[in-house]
Amino acid sequence: KTSYWKLQKNSDNQEIMQEAAALIRAGEVVSFPTETVYGLGADGLNPEAVAKIFAAKGRPNDNPLILHIAKKEDIAQLTTCLNANAKKLMEHFWPGPLTLIVNKSAIVPDAVSAGLETVAVRFPSNKFAQDFIRACGCPIAAPSANISGRPSPTNAQDVLEDMQGKIAGMLDGGNCGIGLESTVVDTTSAVPTILRPGGITYEMLTEVMGAVEIDPALQGDKNFKPKAPGMKYRHYAPKAPVYLFEGEACKCLPQVIAKALAEGKTVGVLCGHELESELAELVEKQQLQLSCWGDSREQLAADLFYLLRDFDRTCPDVILAEGVEEDGLGLAIMNRLRKAAGYQIITLENGSLHLKNN
Ligand code: TXA
Ligand code: MG
Repeated sequence: KTSYWKLQKNSDNQEIMQEAAALIRAGEVVSFPTETVYGLGADGLNPEAVAKIFAAKGRPNDNPLILHIAKKEDIAQLTTCLNANAKKLMEHFWPGPLTLIVNKSAIVPDAVSAGLETVAVRFPSNKFAQDFIRACGCPIAAPSANISGRPSPTNAQDVLEDMQGKIAGMLDGGNCGIGLESTVVDTTSAVPTILRPGGITYEMLTEVMGAVEIDPALQGDKNFKPKAPGMKYRHYAPKAPVYLFEGEACKCLPQVIAKALAEGKTVGVLCGHELESELAELVEKQQLQLSCWGDSREQLAADLFYLLRDFDRTCPDVILAEGVEEDGLGLAIMNRLRKAAGYQIITLENGSLHLKNN
């Protein structure tokens, strides 16, 4: 049985936080909101509690967890050394959607770090998250609150869809603002390296840090092994096959959609507003589920996982997605879309459509 609490915006929610924290201290798992996605939290220093997170998600044991803290100083006990890069990143971007990889101290259980010498630490900016972590009085180990492989949940209903009955508690704090998971940066390398793009963009990082590298495995090149173990798994994938249209290929989407419909297929489309008007007529007469995002990257990021999950409720035969430019939040959006598509990417080459299938 999962206890459910609705959090109130203009309140400290003291009673609720105390009840949820009591569950954490008893070694149980409680889901909580952050500014990125919902987390599945447990006492990060208690290996048995951490094991329950892996069980609830069906998560592979070799995929380490992030420890969440509610004040900057709390990172000190979790690491043997905070170098100048790590300190600078904390100073500029904490609290916020940035996770730092640092060398781990002896108190971090192997279950959290999955046997690595490093640990991931994050100080979320969401006030409910901060109040919850503070009430617990320990670092909170938390992955995204989805069943392993599914899109991360950005609202309480999506958490319950995956976790009802499997966890002790659920703190409902409404919709997550950013909608994509935090940026993960390795601070143990000479040049800080992005292992997972997210809400803190490459541009924001280089402005503060100068040189910043991006893990080459993020481009989907199988010759490189991702440094964040979680990035190697198939992820965010709806049940239907997804094809991601990139660059000039997007212009061919209306034709491709019309052809699939003519073949009798039910089609899901994920695209921006410009295509929406072109497709309006098809939506009216045919088997087309059109999911459109607003004008900004921020809106697309905020809606992306919800829209991907939505396709599982209707289950079209095929999903066609329009890609975006990779500047700003676009890097994180395209990273998630490519994974959702299982790297089935359509490009336009010498005037004809080309399927790249890594
Ligand atoms: O926004 C977020 O980061 C959310 C919220 C709940 O805070 N959490 C989240 O956790 O996305 P999770 O477990 O779904 O993703 C953590 C990622 C994984 O790809 C994992 O492999 C990587 O961080 N990671 C964790 N510890 C690591 C380490 N020591 N070295 C490299 N990668 C690590
Ligand atoms: Mg996750």
